[in-house]
Amino acid sequence: MFKRFNKDSPNGAPVAAPSLVAPSKSAPAVASAPVEVAPKPEKMAKSKKTKPAPPKSVAVDPKEAKRMDRLLEIRMELHKRLLESLNLAALDKASEEDLRHEIALISREGLRDMDVVLNSADQKQLNADLLDEVTGLGPIEVLLRDDTVNDILINGSQQVFVERGGILELTTVKFKDEKHLMRIIDKIVSAVGRRVDESSPYVDARLADGSRFNAMVPPCAVDGSLVSIRKFTKEKLSIDQLIKFGAFTEAMATYLQAAVATRLNIIVSGGTGSGKTTTLNALSGFIGDEERIVTIEDTAELQLQQVHIGRMESRPPNVEGKGEVSQRDLLRNALRMRPDRIIVGETRGDEVIDMLQAMNTGHDGSMTTIHANSARDAVSRLENMIAMTGVELPLVASRAQISSAVDLMVQISRLPDGSRRMVSITEITGMEGEIISMQEIFKFQRTGMDEDGKIQGKFVSGGLRSHFTERFRQWGYDLPNSIYTNAED
Ligand SMILES: Nc1ncnc2c1ncn2[C@@H]1O[C@H](COP(=O)(O)OP(=O)(O)OP(=O)(O)O)[C@@H](O)[C@H]1O
Ligand SMILES: [Mg+2]
Repeated sequence: MFKRFNKDSPNGAPVAAPSLVAPSKSAPAVASAPVEVAPKPEKMAKSKKTKPAPPKSVAVDPKEAKRMDRLLEIRMELHKRLLESLNLAALDKASEEDLRHEIALISREGLRDMDVVLNSADQKQLNADLLDEVTGLGPIEVLLRDDTVNDILINGSQQVFVERGGILELTTVKFKDEKHLMRIIDKIVSAVGRRVDESSPYVDARLADGSRFNAMVPPCAVDGSLVSIRKFTKEKLSIDQLIKFGAFTEAMATYLQAAVATRLNIIVSGGTGSGKTTTLNALSGFIGDEERIVTIEDTAELQLQQVHIGRMESRPPNVEGKGEVSQRDLLRNALRMRPDRIIVGETRGDEVIDMLQAMNTGHDGSMTTIHANSARDAVSRLENMIAMTGVELPLVASRAQISSAVDLMVQISRLPDGSRRMVSITEITGMEGEIISMQEIFKFQRTGMDEDGKIQGKFVSGGLRSHFTERFRQWGYDLPNSIYTNAED
């Protein structure tokens, strides 16, 4: 377990800390942790940038595919019959037992009428699928229940991908046709009080279980509706688990603990699905319970463990185009709520100005994430975002603003083998002329790939002591030099 740096011990000797994510009452701690995702840091060898691996597809035997199609047809036919004969009004009140019984009856009758004989396994599966159709989200219900699935990506009725352990896989799950898919989309969005149709062809929503949901329907979606679901995981990955999965090292965690505790302003940067929100969540574990934190997100995903938290979520405009509450509105309001720290789930628009201002004016220790591929890239993204707000600020002034607001850039990356790593921790140290100066404290050095396609490499320190060493010391985090030393030094 990661031993937290103990600032109250005379030599900073680490103490064992409780796991940063409290296990939920209902489930044992992180039962569903995707352990296979995490290759350990491996041996060294030189490597070049590799392209992301192409999605792995599941080869289906044509005979089996035909059988599945036939089963799907039967299921749709029976589903139609079910809807005709079930008392829909009573559906909500019916117990699952009653429903199962009813479904078994109707399906037996239907199969007899259609002259279809199924083996008992198929029959059982069919009844389970029918229950999912009636009470749940049809074909994707199994994927939603599968804890190893992180993302569900639907490209029209015939193609459903999932992401498992950082790798995309094509599944055998299919919808009967576009109408079937639309019905499921409708079911999802109407449950959260939204709608999607030709006139408003896309929707971004948070599902009742906390999952993030986005759908785009035809005609804007050219080959059939596009759906993306980022499943909500109750058990967020803790610092301990991230270390265990090889996302970063204990030395890096010690550094990050000091950085968060001494209230550096931190930007977590990374590509889509690289683990930015997960990292932000884990880092927040280093914030003390005595601080007041306000979080701002488009879709509330963060699950901070502190006591004193105000959570806010932006709201899209309604059908008449009214009632929008943007992240920027929330951020401005947050400044009046006496927060010690502000955490913005993702900075992507004009809230950037207010975020930087907040970081510059007394809300030290604020954090956010940004879509970018490197620390330098993240700075360019910030510059672009500032330019896009329409605020007339010369580039050098934007840079000065960024360099005085942001202290630390943490770069996360999803590598081609599906592993997610903290590939760089970079400090912003000031300005040199018109350029923002930075120093990389830790990085992941890729060295090659083993025969299973697993990326090899190791985390190394840049050999530099932190620019914030004195600040850390003043706050009681007199970090040992050893965290900046590489094994072979
Ligand atoms: N180091 C890790 N090891 C294994 N799984 C991880 C790791 N980091 C994140 N994940 C998993 O990857 C998925 C995506 O993570 P997360 O939501 O944090 O990404 P993100 O960068 O915020 O994505 P987006 O760009 O869509 O907001 C989650 O299911 C999360 O549990
Ligand atoms: Mg995110």
